[in-house]
Amino acid sequence: MAKFSKALERWNERFSIDTYLFGQQANHYLQAQKDRFQGGKALAIADGEGRNSVWMAQQGIQVNAFDFSPIALEKAKKLAQQKNVSVDFECSDWQSYAWPRSEYDYVVGIFFQFADPDERTELFAKMDHSLKPGGLMIIQGYGEKQLQYKTGGPGVIENLYTESLLKNAFPNYEILDSCTYEKEIEEGDGHDGMSALVGFVARKL
Ligand SMILES: C[S@@+](CC[C@H](N)C(=O)[O-])C[C@H]1O[C@@H](n2cnc3c(N)ncnc32)[C@H](O)[C@@H]1O
Repeated sequence: MAKFSKALERWNERFSIDTYLFGQQANHYLQAQKDRFQGGKALAIADGEGRNSVWMAQQGIQVNAFDFSPIALEKAKKLAQQKNVSVDFECSDWQSYAWPRSEYDYVVGIFFQFADPDERTELFAKMDHSLKPGGLMIIQGYGEKQLQYKTGGPGVIENLYTESLLKNAFPNYEILDSCTYEKEIEEGDGHDGMSALVGFVARKL
């Protein structure tokens, strides 16, 4: 519990700035999946200041999003207003989020590597639970080489991804994209510079 409140305090502190810590533009990997968004309903997990949920809403998707930081969510609501779209935001940690069964056509997780291996197993299972059969799981995270770049991310190897980790985590899925790459990214001050990344898109069978 102390670990949890410390994490919340730390995130609230990081988000307590006038600018958007991760920028207002959606993550580049999510944007690259634009053509896969063909109507329906999405869940943006640990959505932070709303850049990804707002972008999905701009694609005509009905979006639910949650994050445990009330400071981030206030900024997310402002971003949605500014872009004139509607997103159903909820202030919740992933552990107590309701995770409706087979509800979403897309479950989108962008940079949520606060989860250690045990938490990640539980979190991935919840994400799977909420995705409809036929729906898309879209994940972006840092790869192991990110430990050298130190331009964002958790800084501990257990929380980083490999393609096989993600493939094994979602065995009953058809993989549509799985990639490991290095790229200079500018996603706010929070994610800035040369980065080692992993992208994953898969359809639930
Ligand atoms: C690296 S940020 C990414 C935010 C957003 N997905 C993006 O790409 O801009 C990680 C996010 O996870 C949220 N977070 C951390 N622990 C959480 C938890 N237990 N439940 C829900 N959100 C959490 C933080 O508040 C933060 O917004």
